[in-house]
Amino acid sequence: MSTVVLIGSQWGDEGKGKVTDFLAEKADVVVRYQGGTNAGHTLTVGDEVFKLHLIPSGILYPGKRCIIGNGVVLDAAALTKEMAGLQERNIDISQLRISDRAHVVMPYHKRFDELDEEQRGKGKIGTTLRGIGPAYMDKVHRTGMRVADLLDEQELRGKLTLLLEGKNLLLTKVYDAEPFDADLLFEEYRKYADILRPYVTDTSLLLDEEIRSGSKILFEGAQGTMLDLDHGTYPFVTSSSPTAGGACMGTGVGPTRINHVLGVAKAYTTRVGDGPFPSELHDETGDRIREIGREYGTTTGRPRRIGWLDAVVLRYASRINGLSYLALTLLDVLTGQETIKICTAYRYKGETIQHVPAMLGALEECEPVFEEFPGWQEDLAKIDRFEDFPAAAKNYVRRVAELTEVPVALVSVGPKRKQTKILHDIF
Ligand code: GDP
Ligand code: IMO
Ligand code: MG
Repeated sequence: MSTVVLIGSQWGDEGKGKVTDFLAEKADVVVRYQGGTNAGHTLTVGDEVFKLHLIPSGILYPGKRCIIGNGVVLDAAALTKEMAGLQERNIDISQLRISDRAHVVMPYHKRFDELDEEQRGKGKIGTTLRGIGPAYMDKVHRTGMRVADLLDEQELRGKLTLLLEGKNLLLTKVYDAEPFDADLLFEEYRKYADILRPYVTDTSLLLDEEIRSGSKILFEGAQGTMLDLDHGTYPFVTSSSPTAGGACMGTGVGPTRINHVLGVAKAYTTRVGDGPFPSELHDETGDRIREIGREYGTTTGRPRRIGWLDAVVLRYASRINGLSYLALTLLDVLTGQETIKICTAYRYKGETIQHVPAMLGALEECEPVFEEFPGWQEDLAKIDRFEDFPAAAKNYVRRVAELTEVPVALVSVGPKRKQTKILHDIF
């Protein structure tokens, strides 16, 4: 049995898509377990770039089973578009499977996401406006629409009529917004149902069969630890569990069947959206890293906020996820920096602390304590072996492993598959 959960160790966009695609060569199955189209995973193969939002990042390898688990909130309109987009580029999607228990993001969820953000004003979360929060709200509130409901016309019509009574009351009486038409939604969604039907199944059962037959399974997290609903910088988080535990809930695979957890971390830190970010850079160095790393959101195009690597956050991620290994990405982006910093602790109310405080106000007050390192000038992508990297780059990677007490298994020095150095085999 070989099962690996891959998670984001920071605030998302760590390069999970790239690392998943890289590892997918050896995996048999790739599974998404939470989030929705708020995710944007970029894969670069040769000169081609693929941006995936719902489909697992194993899809570019023919024959690999790609599963959308029950924990994902599935935007049927976006998914059918993503599927068609891949097919137009001659990517075989016949191995895609979709959980019958996944919840569906409906157009009213997206509308409520917008209205909630407008209403929050200055206190907005900076969501991706993809309806994620409202869809998970309905799931928890037990008023969600599941994929299984979507496939049953009677159920779809009945649920839409019932649910829209309440939703439209809220929209018109509270938000002063336009109501939704149940008949129009029914006609639109039965068409999506017809496209999705051949791919829908009980994916927990499928995963059980795969595990029993010895398949190598990669669980692909979206978002990141600091965006986790329970463990992130609440309320500036997403509405799911991107951490390793979420893989069990979001797929119907028990915890005793997970072997390893791989944390993907950028060699620095980025965050898109609002909320505290202790090691954030507000200077030219941050701007420089944003331009070299092309740090603009895959989903929304927003410029990402930039900061130095935060070892307090990575140690926290190690504890919450039980990390076995780290994959350190975008190391090449730091090339050319005279010096590089790592945040090793926070100063809070005159004391040095090593943990992430729960209170948002406290985290906002935390001042980073930095360790400084000499940089390097060499183009890392041109060096074949990690052992031949400049001493300063090797030292930086070693220090990350030391500070986090997690061995670094992969170092990524460019978006392409071959721009990856293996320090420990994952599969
Ligand atoms: P994800 O959401 O975690 O999958 O990350 P994104 O795809 O949103 O953002 C990561 C970006 O960095 C993408 O544009 C990737 O193509 C790119 N990328 C990934 N790894 C590397 C790397 O090692 N070096 C460079 N320069 N770019 C990388
Ligand atoms: P990937 O998988 C980075 C952020 C949003 C916002 C907060 C809540 O590409 O790493 P939501 O729409 O989820 O309700 O927004 O979470 N966010 C992400 N940031 N990468 C992501 O996904 C993100 N998905 C959501 O910017 O701050
Ligand atoms: Mg992303």
